[in-house]
Amino acid sequence: MRHFLTLDDFSKDEILEIINLGLQIKKEARERNFKPYLKDQKLAMIFEKSSTRTRVSFEVGMHELGGMALFLSKNDIQIGRGEPIKDTARVLSRMCDMIMARVNSHETLVELAKFSSVPVINGLSDKFHPMQLLADFMTILEYGWEIVNMSVAYIGDGNNMTHSWLMLASKLGFELRVATPKGYEVDSEILARAMKNCEISGGKIIITNDPKEAVRGATIVTTDTWVSMGQEDEKEKRIRDFAGFCVDENLMSLADKNATFLHCLPAYRGYEVSEAVFEAHADEIFDEAENRLHAQKAVMVWLDTKRK
Ligand code: CP
Ligand code: NVA
Repeated sequence: MRHFLTLDDFSKDEILEIINLGLQIKKEARERNFKPYLKDQKLAMIFEKSSTRTRVSFEVGMHELGGMALFLSKNDIQIGRGEPIKDTARVLSRMCDMIMARVNSHETLVELAKFSSVPVINGLSDKFHPMQLLADFMTILEYGWEIVNMSVAYIGDGNNMTHSWLMLASKLGFELRVATPKGYEVDSEILARAMKNCEISGGKIIITNDPKEAVRGATIVTTDTWVSMGQEDEKEKRIRDFAGFCVDENLMSLADKNATFLHCLPAYRGYEVSEAVFEAHADEIFDEAENRLHAQKAVMVWLDTKRK
């Protein structure tokens, strides 16, 4: 049995296998041909933080696969009153076939996985957001980019999204340039892991504090909020510190002329991205959002095959 906590736990071939399955499931869904790959299975969805896309895509996805999903907000279940994660994991394992969790601390996921007898999926932690990256990569392929000719520029905070980009680039072997303001760099241990992966994959990672250097010639430009969930108290300071890191038309003009712009959403116009850049690339961004649905169905189907 496998869990899906970070992309680092998967080989390049496994990631590509899941993406290809996602593309196939998307095609079937577009033809309204919903195959009951997970008939009668139950997905428990624990949320310690808010969500639009993750909740809806997992809930709709499980329905389309012939199963059902339970939304378990931390305010409504006993973990909010102190029931240990390890007990929650064992109870849910007795009643459900998979667990998806969005958590404050990545350690909570590790603990869940340790005590769960069913697969556990990371729906976002403070360290990683792997489901988003599968959808992002699926979108990149749909827009015609290939591992060999793509370069991704990530502009903004060195956060859970950035860490997952580091994992994806270093596993698949493409070029990733990360530009953060000073003091908002990526986690050094995660960067070291990514650098090690690159020795095998041939991936290239460039770390800078200069957004222009990162974007120049890039085929994919991406960003994320400057204020992640749980950082609301730092909002004013962050807005000051991130001056010059907005992906606006000037910055985008340095990228490849056919560059794709991605945003995991929610987007804050006038901060990490300008209204003009966002709307010019809205088709790509909302394809990316839709691909959460299909990529995650593929993850659940794939994880199911691994326990049989
Ligand atoms: N991108 C993403 O995970 O969105 P939600 O927070 O709405 O789930
Ligand atoms: N970095 C953001 C991603 C939201 C999908 C956060 O953690 O809030």
